[in-house]
Amino acid sequence: MDQAKAMDNMYRYQRYIYDFTRKYYLLGRDRLIRKMPLKAGDNVLEIGCGTARNLILLAKKHPDVQFYGLDASQEMLDTAQAKIDAKGLTGRIILKQCLAEQLDYEKTFGLDKPFDAAFFSYSLSMIPPWSDAVDTALVNVKKDGFIHIVDFSDQRGLPKWFQWVLQNWLSLFGVHYPPGLLPYFEEMEKQGKGSLDVEGLGGYYAFLADFKVK
Ligand SMILES: C[S@@+](CC[C@H](N)C(=O)[O-])C[C@H]1O[C@@H](n2cnc3c(N)ncnc32)[C@H](O)[C@@H]1O
Repeated sequence: MDQAKAMDNMYRYQRYIYDFTRKYYLLGRDRLIRKMPLKAGDNVLEIGCGTARNLILLAKKHPDVQFYGLDASQEMLDTAQAKIDAKGLTGRIILKQCLAEQLDYEKTFGLDKPFDAAFFSYSLSMIPPWSDAVDTALVNVKKDGFIHIVDFSDQRGLPKWFQWVLQNWLSLFGVHYPPGLLPYFEEMEKQGKGSLDVEGLGGYYAFLADFKVK
């Protein structure tokens, strides 16, 4: 089954309870929103935006920034658009159905220049070709722009039993922490493609990474 169908099946009913049920365990999303260095006139994209929970908070915080969101699941985007309209933010956040690995700022969003920043919030751990999604983000963000990531980590600072329970539970939702993800960014840094800053959250329950593109 393709990823768009798989995500529609996953979220067709979950989307109604998504924001409430994820509030307590998708840690670090508010921290990322607080620290993103955005300027008036920026174009900012969330890749795997789900219900637009993050984009709505960002659009309220930064009235002079234009936000964009893409997601594999049209079901999630329908919920996202209804929330955006209900908050009076129509037009401040533009949504498109698209796979992360197929993003093209011109073709997908009709823009004439790459994004100032793009971020993945708990989406890379659900995207099987995560390295393709990262490579695609890199060519869609301008030089000196940022790619931010918040996602599950390896829980190295937490008890083994907790790691086992969490990882087995997450796999029921198609979530798999990719151990190669941060090494992949470290390698990109070595190749001179950007500079990386990583922060572990809650005993490496999750991590927050900022990659400044060179
Ligand atoms: C756990 S949710 C996170 C939603 C949101 N970013 C948040 O922080 O609440 C992961 C999202 O990634 C989307 N997704 C999964 N694979 C994708 C892909 N290949 N391309 C784009 N979005 C994808 C899912 O449909 C889902 O909405």
